[in-house]
Amino acid sequence: MAQIQWFPGHMAKARKQVQEKIKQVDLVLEVVDARTPESSRNPMLDELVADKPRIMVLNKQDLADPALTAAWVQYYQDQGFAAIAIDAQHAKRLQQIPQLATKLMAEKIARKKARGIRNPMIKAMCIGIPNVGKSTVLNRLVRRNIAVTGNKPGVTKNQQWLKASDNFQLLDTPGILWPKFASQTIGMRLAFTGAIADAVFQEDMVGLYGLASFMAHYPAALKKAYHVTDDDLNEAPHDLLVKLTKSQGFAEAYDRMAERLIFDARQGKLGRFTLEKPGETDADAE
Ligand code: G4P
Repeated sequence: MAQIQWFPGHMAKARKQVQEKIKQVDLVLEVVDARTPESSRNPMLDELVADKPRIMVLNKQDLADPALTAAWVQYYQDQGFAAIAIDAQHAKRLQQIPQLATKLMAEKIARKKARGIRNPMIKAMCIGIPNVGKSTVLNRLVRRNIAVTGNKPGVTKNQQWLKASDNFQLLDTPGILWPKFASQTIGMRLAFTGAIADAVFQEDMVGLYGLASFMAHYPAALKKAYHVTDDDLNEAPHDLLVKLTKSQGFAEAYDRMAERLIFDARQGKLGRFTLEKPGETDADAE
């Protein structure tokens, strides 16, 4: 989808829209990218969602490191959230979301039934920063292919409820919040995975960040994709980038090698990866 440029006016409007939508729902699906679960959240959501039940949806699990995805799901569960890892492009596991929602809302459903409502409806919405897959999750849950027209701050239209199951319905447009850039590391993670527009970052910096991450955590992927040797892995990331630039045929165009690395990683050509671990601080990550 098209990337959104965030300006203060946009942010205020987006916040207001999300706030209005949240009022209408019983439950929130907070969609994050499983490769960057914390970096792809917006802390403002905690305040906006307040006490409403929430399901952390770690999307794009097909691209993420399975062991770390399991660790993140556990981490969010330990924090008292319901959490599920999915791949929105494959609908099967997605159907656990309505079941999870029914479980979370059990008390409210029972109260409504006691008041004579035969099949109480759970109303929910997807919220998250751009590009985490909110629209894909939404469309797959309701088994429809809805244009992403509402996916722009400032676009208003009549809202509709779409049915995902007999007792679970979703607001037809996701809530969008802007990414947070609390540190350079967070910015790098979001840039590397494509959550923020390519135009706003320097490719060589982001490529170097990605290369350093893969050298530290996924060296086998570099060996396989670019024939990197054990000796190469002892080099400083900058020196390896220079070496790879030459060996991949880009002469001295480091930015092109950086671009290639970013592209390959996003396409899954470097295998599954996750850029952050539960409980890790930015200082640890550096
Ligand atoms: P958004 O509403 O949060 O902004 O995200 P959207 O659903 O538009 O998804 C952003 C991109 O991520 C899309 O790719 C989409 O296909 C992809 N995507 C969504 N969920 C998953 C997932 O679970 N796994 C993988 N691998 N990709 C996912 P795109 O290239 O921007 O668009 P398109 O080529 O699919 O049209």
